[in-house]
Amino acid sequence: MPEKWKFEDIDWSLFDPEKVNPETIRVLKAGSVVEYNGSDYGLYLKGVFEGDTLFEKEIEAWSKDEIKHGRVLAQWVTLADPTYNFDERFKAYVEGFPIDIHAKESIRGSRGSELLTRCMVEIGTSSFYAAVRDATDEPLLKQICHKIAADELRHYKLFYTHYQRYQAHEKIPLRKRLQIALGRLFENEDDELAFAYYTANKASGPYNRKYYTQEYGKAVYTYYQKIHVERGMSLFCKVVGFHPQGWIQKGLSALAFKILSSKAKAYKRELRAA
Ligand SMILES: [Fe+2]
Ligand SMILES: [Fe+2]
Repeated sequence: MPEKWKFEDIDWSLFDPEKVNPETIRVLKAGSVVEYNGSDYGLYLKGVFEGDTLFEKEIEAWSKDEIKHGRVLAQWVTLADPTYNFDERFKAYVEGFPIDIHAKESIRGSRGSELLTRCMVEIGTSSFYAAVRDATDEPLLKQICHKIAADELRHYKLFYTHYQRYQAHEKIPLRKRLQIALGRLFENEDDELAFAYYTANKASGPYNRKYYTQEYGKAVYTYYQKIHVERGMSLFCKVVGFHPQGWIQKGLSALAFKILSSKAKAYKRELRAA
Protein backbone atom coordinates (compact mmCIF):
# COMPACT_ATOMS: atom_id res chain seq x y z
CA MET A 1 0.00 0.00 0.00
CA PRO A 2 1.47 3.43 -0.94
CA GLU A 3 2.66 5.71 1.87
CA LYS A 4 0.16 8.31 3.01
CA TRP A 5 1.19 11.71 1.75
CA LYS A 6 0.84 15.13 3.37
CA PHE A 7 0.04 18.60 2.04
CA GLU A 8 3.71 19.49 2.63
CA ASP A 9 4.89 16.67 0.33
CA ILE A 10 3.65 18.53 -2.75
CA ASP A 11 6.47 20.13 -4.75
CA TRP A 12 4.81 23.49 -5.46
CA SER A 13 7.91 24.69 -7.35
CA LEU A 14 6.86 22.42 -10.24
CA PHE A 15 4.07 24.83 -11.20
CA ASP A 16 4.26 25.98 -14.81
CA PRO A 17 1.68 28.71 -15.61
CA GLU A 18 2.33 28.31 -19.35
CA LYS A 19 0.87 24.82 -19.29
CA VAL A 20 -2.37 25.62 -17.50
CA ASN A 21 -5.62 25.04 -19.32
CA PRO A 22 -8.29 27.60 -18.27
CA GLU A 23 -11.04 24.98 -18.53
CA THR A 24 -9.18 22.74 -16.09
CA ILE A 25 -9.01 25.62 -13.60
CA ARG A 26 -12.79 25.94 -13.72
CA VAL A 27 -13.27 22.20 -13.24
CA LEU A 28 -10.86 22.03 -10.32
CA LYS A 29 -12.48 24.98 -8.61
CA ALA A 30 -15.56 22.74 -8.41
CA GLY A 31 -13.37 19.86 -7.22
CA SER A 32 -11.85 21.96 -4.44
CA VAL A 33 -15.18 22.82 -2.81
CA VAL A 34 -16.67 19.32 -3.16
CA GLU A 35 -13.56 17.67 -1.69
CA TYR A 36 -13.29 20.12 1.17
CA ASN A 37 -16.88 19.28 2.04
CA GLY A 38 -15.50 15.87 3.08
CA SER A 39 -15.69 17.25 6.63
CA ASP A 40 -19.51 17.27 6.53
CA TYR A 41 -19.65 13.92 4.73
CA GLY A 42 -17.46 12.55 7.51
CA LEU A 43 -19.97 13.75 10.13
CA TYR A 44 -22.85 12.24 8.16
CA LEU A 45 -21.06 8.88 7.86
CA LYS A 46 -20.08 8.86 11.53
CA GLY A 47 -23.77 9.31 12.41
CA VAL A 48 -24.79 6.47 10.10
CA PHE A 49 -22.13 4.10 11.47
CA GLU A 50 -22.40 5.12 15.11
CA GLY A 51 -21.31 2.25 17.35
CA ASP A 52 -19.06 0.65 14.70
CA THR A 53 -16.03 1.97 16.58
CA LEU A 54 -13.28 0.65 14.33
CA PHE A 55 -14.95 2.00 11.21
CA GLU A 56 -15.72 5.36 12.87
CA LYS A 57 -11.96 5.90 13.29
CA GLU A 58 -11.38 5.06 9.65
CA ILE A 59 -14.11 7.50 8.61
CA GLU A 60 -12.23 10.22 10.45
CA ALA A 61 -9.00 9.43 8.57
CA TRP A 62 -10.93 9.27 5.28
CA SER A 63 -12.56 12.62 5.95
CA LYS A 64 -9.14 14.19 6.65
CA ASP A 65 -7.88 12.86 3.30
CA GLU A 66 -10.81 14.46 1.47
CA ILE A 67 -10.28 17.80 3.22
CA LYS A 68 -6.59 17.59 2.27
CA HIS A 69 -7.62 17.06 -1.37
CA GLY A 70 -9.77 20.18 -1.17
CA ARG A 71 -6.91 22.23 0.30
CA VAL A 72 -4.37 21.02 -2.25
CA LEU A 73 -6.69 21.68 -5.19
CA ALA A 74 -7.59 25.12 -3.83
CA GLN A 75 -3.88 25.92 -3.56
CA TRP A 76 -3.22 24.81 -7.13
CA VAL A 77 -6.19 26.83 -8.40
CA THR A 78 -4.95 29.90 -6.50
CA LEU A 79 -1.55 29.59 -8.20
CA ALA A 80 -3.29 29.33 -11.57
CA ASP A 81 -5.84 32.05 -10.79
CA PRO A 82 -4.82 34.36 -7.91
CA THR A 83 -8.29 35.95 -7.88
CA TYR A 84 -9.80 32.69 -6.55
CA ASN A 85 -11.32 33.25 -3.11
CA PHE A 86 -11.66 29.69 -1.86
CA ASP A 87 -13.13 30.50 1.59
CA GLU A 88 -15.86 32.64 0.10
CA ARG A 89 -16.70 30.12 -2.65
CA PHE A 90 -16.72 27.19 -0.24
CA LYS A 91 -19.13 29.02 2.04
CA ALA A 92 -21.44 29.71 -0.90
CA TYR A 93 -21.29 26.06 -1.92
CA VAL A 94 -22.15 24.54 1.48
CA GLU A 95 -24.95 27.03 1.97
CA GLY A 96 -26.52 25.94 -1.30
CA PHE A 97 -25.76 22.23 -0.99
CA PRO A 98 -26.01 21.22 2.67
CA ILE A 99 -25.49 17.65 3.89
CA ASP A 100 -27.57 16.24 6.73
CA ILE A 101 -24.80 15.91 9.32
CA HIS A 102 -27.28 14.81 12.01
CA ALA A 103 -28.59 11.78 10.10
CA LYS A 104 -28.68 8.56 12.10
CA GLU A 105 -29.59 6.35 9.19
CA SER A 106 -28.22 6.12 5.69
CA ILE A 107 -30.18 7.96 3.02
CA ARG A 108 -29.37 4.87 0.93
CA GLY A 109 -31.53 2.58 3.09
CA SER A 110 -28.93 0.51 4.95
CA ARG A 111 -25.28 0.53 5.99
CA GLY A 112 -24.41 -1.94 3.25
CA SER A 113 -26.11 0.23 0.63
CA GLU A 114 -24.31 3.29 1.99
CA LEU A 115 -20.95 1.52 1.63
CA LEU A 116 -21.79 0.36 -1.87
CA THR A 117 -22.60 3.97 -2.75
CA ARG A 118 -19.33 5.17 -1.18
CA CYS A 119 -17.47 2.64 -3.36
CA MET A 120 -19.15 4.12 -6.42
CA VAL A 121 -18.12 7.64 -5.42
CA GLU A 122 -14.50 6.55 -4.95
CA ILE A 123 -14.53 4.80 -8.34
CA GLY A 124 -15.68 8.11 -9.82
CA THR A 125 -13.02 10.18 -8.07
CA SER A 126 -10.12 7.75 -8.64
CA SER A 127 -10.97 7.60 -12.37
CA PHE A 128 -11.41 11.36 -12.56
CA TYR A 129 -8.01 12.22 -11.02
CA ALA A 130 -6.23 9.56 -13.08
CA ALA A 131 -7.87 11.04 -16.20
CA VAL A 132 -6.89 14.63 -15.30
CA ARG A 133 -3.35 13.48 -14.45
CA ASP A 134 -3.01 11.91 -17.91
CA ALA A 135 -4.74 14.78 -19.72
CA THR A 136 -2.79 17.72 -18.28
CA ASP A 137 0.69 18.88 -19.28
CA GLU A 138 1.02 21.00 -16.16
CA PRO A 139 3.63 19.17 -14.03
CA LEU A 140 2.37 20.27 -10.60
CA LEU A 141 -1.20 19.26 -11.39
CA LYS A 142 0.09 15.94 -12.72
CA GLN A 143 1.79 15.28 -9.39
CA ILE A 144 -1.23 16.38 -7.37
CA CYS A 145 -3.70 14.26 -9.35
CA HIS A 146 -1.41 11.25 -9.16
CA LYS A 147 -1.35 11.48 -5.38
CA ILE A 148 -5.07 12.12 -5.04
CA ALA A 149 -5.96 9.25 -7.42
CA ALA A 150 -3.93 6.88 -5.21
CA ASP A 151 -5.86 8.07 -2.14
CA GLU A 152 -9.20 7.58 -3.87
CA LEU A 153 -8.29 4.03 -4.81
CA ARG A 154 -7.33 3.37 -1.20
CA HIS A 155 -10.70 4.81 -0.14
CA TYR A 156 -12.46 2.44 -2.53
CA LYS A 157 -10.63 -0.47 -0.94
CA LEU A 158 -11.53 0.75 2.55
CA PHE A 159 -15.25 1.04 1.77
CA TYR A 160 -15.19 -2.22 -0.18
CA THR A 161 -13.73 -4.09 2.83
CA HIS A 162 -16.44 -2.76 5.14
CA TYR A 163 -19.12 -3.28 2.49
CA GLN A 164 -18.22 -6.96 2.41
CA ARG A 165 -18.57 -7.11 6.21
CA TYR A 166 -22.11 -5.66 6.10
CA GLN A 167 -23.08 -7.51 2.95
CA ALA A 168 -22.27 -10.81 4.72
CA HIS A 169 -25.45 -10.40 6.76
CA GLU A 170 -27.49 -7.83 4.77
CA LYS A 171 -27.25 -9.99 1.65
CA ILE A 172 -28.43 -7.23 -0.71
CA PRO A 173 -29.58 -9.08 -3.85
CA LEU A 174 -27.88 -8.48 -7.20
CA ARG A 175 -30.80 -6.56 -8.70
CA LYS A 176 -30.76 -4.13 -5.76
CA ARG A 177 -26.96 -3.87 -5.83
CA LEU A 178 -27.10 -2.91 -9.49
CA GLN A 179 -29.89 -0.45 -8.82
CA ILE A 180 -27.87 1.29 -6.09
CA ALA A 181 -24.61 1.28 -8.03
CA LEU A 182 -26.08 2.47 -11.33
CA GLY A 183 -28.26 4.97 -9.49
CA ARG A 184 -25.16 6.58 -8.01
CA LEU A 185 -23.40 6.51 -11.36
CA PHE A 186 -26.18 8.58 -12.92
CA GLU A 187 -26.36 10.81 -9.89
CA ASN A 188 -22.99 12.12 -11.04
CA GLU A 189 -25.10 14.22 -13.29
CA ASP A 190 -27.13 15.50 -10.36
CA ASP A 191 -26.72 18.86 -8.76
CA GLU A 192 -23.59 18.25 -6.69
CA LEU A 193 -20.96 18.82 -9.35
CA ALA A 194 -22.96 21.18 -11.54
CA PHE A 195 -23.80 23.35 -8.54
CA ALA A 196 -20.18 23.21 -7.33
CA TYR A 197 -19.05 24.33 -10.79
CA TYR A 198 -21.53 27.19 -10.70
CA THR A 199 -20.69 28.43 -7.18
CA ALA A 200 -16.93 27.80 -7.23
CA ASN A 201 -16.65 29.80 -10.47
CA LYS A 202 -18.82 32.58 -9.09
CA ALA A 203 -20.93 32.41 -12.22
CA SER A 204 -23.26 35.32 -12.79
CA GLY A 205 -27.02 34.93 -13.09
CA PRO A 206 -29.27 32.32 -11.52
CA TYR A 207 -28.29 28.67 -11.28
CA ASN A 208 -29.37 26.58 -14.25
CA ARG A 209 -28.88 22.89 -13.60
CA LYS A 210 -28.95 21.72 -17.22
CA TYR A 211 -26.57 24.45 -18.41
CA TYR A 212 -23.97 23.86 -15.69
CA THR A 213 -24.19 20.08 -16.02
CA GLN A 214 -23.30 20.58 -19.68
CA GLU A 215 -20.55 23.12 -18.95
CA TYR A 216 -18.96 20.76 -16.43
CA GLY A 217 -19.48 17.63 -18.53
CA LYS A 218 -18.14 19.06 -21.78
CA ALA A 219 -14.80 19.72 -20.10
CA VAL A 220 -14.53 16.65 -17.91
CA TYR A 221 -15.73 13.92 -20.27
CA THR A 222 -12.98 14.69 -22.78
CA TYR A 223 -10.27 13.89 -20.17
CA TYR A 224 -11.14 10.19 -20.10
CA GLN A 225 -9.26 7.63 -22.14
CA LYS A 226 -10.40 4.03 -22.59
CA ILE A 227 -8.00 2.82 -19.91
CA HIS A 228 -9.58 5.02 -17.22
CA VAL A 229 -13.05 3.76 -18.05
CA GLU A 230 -11.87 0.13 -18.14
CA ARG A 231 -10.25 0.42 -14.71
CA GLY A 232 -13.32 2.12 -13.29
CA MET A 233 -15.61 -0.57 -14.68
CA SER A 234 -13.38 -3.28 -13.28
CA LEU A 235 -13.83 -1.77 -9.78
CA PHE A 236 -17.55 -1.41 -10.47
CA CYS A 237 -17.89 -5.09 -11.45
CA LYS A 238 -15.92 -6.19 -8.40
CA VAL A 239 -18.17 -4.39 -5.94
CA VAL A 240 -21.41 -5.35 -7.66
CA GLY A 241 -20.33 -9.01 -7.77
CA PHE A 242 -19.27 -9.62 -11.38
CA HIS A 243 -15.88 -10.78 -12.58
CA PRO A 244 -13.64 -7.66 -12.60
CA GLN A 245 -12.16 -8.64 -15.98
CA GLY A 246 -14.97 -10.65 -17.50
CA TRP A 247 -17.18 -10.05 -20.54
CA ILE A 248 -19.60 -7.85 -18.55
CA GLN A 249 -16.74 -5.54 -17.58
CA LYS A 250 -15.59 -5.38 -21.22
CA GLY A 251 -19.09 -4.68 -22.49
CA LEU A 252 -19.79 -2.04 -19.83
CA SER A 253 -16.43 -0.34 -20.48
CA ALA A 254 -17.12 -0.06 -24.20
CA LEU A 255 -20.63 1.24 -23.54
CA ALA A 256 -19.55 3.75 -20.86
CA PHE A 257 -16.72 5.07 -23.02
CA LYS A 258 -19.11 5.54 -25.93
CA ILE A 259 -21.59 7.38 -23.68
CA LEU A 260 -18.87 9.69 -22.29
CA SER A 261 -17.54 10.57 -25.74
CA SER A 262 -20.96 11.19 -27.26
CA LYS A 263 -22.09 13.24 -24.25
CA ALA A 264 -18.98 15.43 -24.46
CA LYS A 265 -19.74 16.10 -28.14
CA ALA A 266 -23.46 16.65 -27.58
CA TYR A 267 -22.83 19.10 -24.71
CA LYS A 268 -20.37 21.09 -26.80
CA ARG A 269 -22.84 21.24 -29.67
CA GLU A 270 -25.76 22.29 -27.47
CA LEU A 271 -23.73 24.94 -25.67
CA ARG A 272 -22.54 26.41 -28.96
CA ALA A 273 -26.12 26.54 -30.20
CA ALA A 274 -27.45 28.14 -26.99
FE1 LIG B 1 -10.97 13.11 -2.65
FE1 LIG C 1 -12.03 9.64 -1.63
